[in-house]
Amino acid sequence: MTMPISAIFLLTLFSVIYGTASTHHLRHTLSSDSYHQPYRTAYHFQPPKNWINGPLRYGGLYHLFYQYNPKGTVWGNIIWAHSVSKDLVNWTPLDPAIFPSQPSDVNGCWSGSATLLPGNKPAILYTGINPLNQQVQNLAKPKNLSDPFLREWVKSPKNPLMAPTSANKINASSFRDPTTAWLGQDGHWRVLVGSKRGTRGMALLYRSKDFVDWVQAKDPLHSILGSGMWECPDFFPVLNNGQLGVDTSVNGDYVRHVLKVSLDDKKHDYYMIGSYNADKDAFIPDKGFNEFVLRYDYGKYYASKSFFDDGKKRRVLLGWVNESSSVADDIKKGWSGIHTIPRAIWLHKSGKQLVLWPVEEIEKLRANPVNLPPQVLEGGKLLQINGVTATQADVEISFSFEKSKLRKAEVLNYWRDPQILCSTKGSSLRSELGPFGLLVFASEGLQEFTSIDHSVVESFEGEGRGCITARVYPTLAIDDKAQIYAFNNGSAEVMITRLSAWSMKKAQIN
Ligand SMILES: *[C@@H]1O[C@H](CO)[C@@H](O)[C@H](O)[C@H]1NC(C)=O
Ligand SMILES: *[C@@H]1O[C@H](CO)[C@@H](O)[C@H](O)[C@H]1NC(C)=O
Ligand SMILES: *[C@@H]1O[C@H](CO)[C@@H](O)[C@H](O)[C@H]1NC(C)=O
Ligand SMILES: *[C@@H]1O[C@H](CO)[C@@H](O)[C@H](O)[C@H]1NC(C)=O
Repeated sequence: MTMPISAIFLLTLFSVIYGTASTHHLRHTLSSDSYHQPYRTAYHFQPPKNWINGPLRYGGLYHLFYQYNPKGTVWGNIIWAHSVSKDLVNWTPLDPAIFPSQPSDVNGCWSGSATLLPGNKPAILYTGINPLNQQVQNLAKPKNLSDPFLREWVKSPKNPLMAPTSANKINASSFRDPTTAWLGQDGHWRVLVGSKRGTRGMALLYRSKDFVDWVQAKDPLHSILGSGMWECPDFFPVLNNGQLGVDTSVNGDYVRHVLKVSLDDKKHDYYMIGSYNADKDAFIPDKGFNEFVLRYDYGKYYASKSFFDDGKKRRVLLGWVNESSSVADDIKKGWSGIHTIPRAIWLHKSGKQLVLWPVEEIEKLRANPVNLPPQVLEGGKLLQINGVTATQADVEISFSFEKSKLRKAEVLNYWRDPQILCSTKGSSLRSELGPFGLLVFASEGLQEFTSIDHSVVESFEGEGRGCITARVYPTLAIDDKAQIYAFNNGSAEVMITRLSAWSMKKAQIN
């Protein structure tokens, strides 16, 4: 009996076995730049330079705001830069949307979220740094709602709307990143702000009738001892059944709620699935979700934010991929940080995890398809995939193998930190079954290759139940010297049941 790998994903992923993997990466050379820039990506969003971070659909356009340092490649002087897109693939830059102009944000405009108020009126809550270097929460609204580009934003004269005081005992250096707000049945808005008390990470809850006067709730929505500072919390409903998304204010028997936080201590995005008890204004994790175990992505991925796309009725997730290079290298190449390809996000039918998959629009960039017939890949063999631009490609591959061989796969002892496991063991560790998968950024002679570690590759396994994003800085496998192979480094044969590959066209990115 053979078994498609997608069915056994959790057991095998971290022993470097890929399931239905769609692997992306790319680079392009900046024509406006006098330096050769082999690592610059061609269809991942990135600003002309510097750090990015933070989405909204308005007037038929997707608006992306991101943390941007106009003065350098390293973190600091943070403002809200702004780009718009019709398709989440091609992006046009606009002038910065929010920059320091009030005492409540004079030392920086940090992360926050957009909410659509009744009548389709956007509002942004964001963290400002005041003259005392305290973190406070501020409000900004578009100046002209007839402008689909939402070019100009006006700040509330009442800013800050939420601030640490001696009475509320909030730590002024641990109070940031307001979520998209949701509307309760009582007509009051709720918003979360990431914080901690000692080592207890928490999502502080605030309520407001008018979006201006916010009152802190007695208890946080949720907190966990020992988890440290919660950055960029995100709290949203997902349908029990199906892939469609729902608005952030939806609640009922037909949804579960997701609480995602970016753990400052671990630099990864973790989530829990549970229910939102609206009477108590509390998040109740489902059985098995008492601590942060599951991650959106088991590679380089942080500070993600989701939004409800009311056009295509889906929830879309954008995340930030930090560089793996040194700060000195970032300064030299003049940019740092990219966004992953936007991913649609929904609840797996098991109810036990989320599914993430690149938005369908990215497929518009596919060109020159290469389809290989189903074939056996013997142990220790490589199969070269010719005819695609290996530095800028999209590959879907499915493997199957005899179920009895599953016992021979390496078991996942350290699955709590698969990144460490994979970076220690890589694909060189051989067992009878596996590792097998794709080698991308391979140079001729294989002196240099990436299986899953050390790369800027987004891979999606098990039909989106596992994602790994990584950065790679190849030195040999660049430009036309890069090649792609399917590999099987186990001793048992595996069957490649499907292999389709495309060269990817370059998107317009700023
Ligand atoms: C608002 O934006 C619309 C569309 O861009 C423009 O025609 C109009 O002049 C703007 N109004 C003001 C007051 O700027
Ligand atoms: C407040 O948070 C900062 C930053 O994490 C930390 O260094 C400091 O010890 C905290 N202060 C208190 C009183 O918890
Ligand atoms: C970003 O990557 C650099 C280099 O690997 C690392 O030093 C830094 O801690 C990372 N920052 C975050 C927020 O992940
Ligand atoms: C396969 O395993 C051998 C021996 O451990 C190792 O040298 C080689 O790099 C591995 N190949 C791949 C593609 O991981």
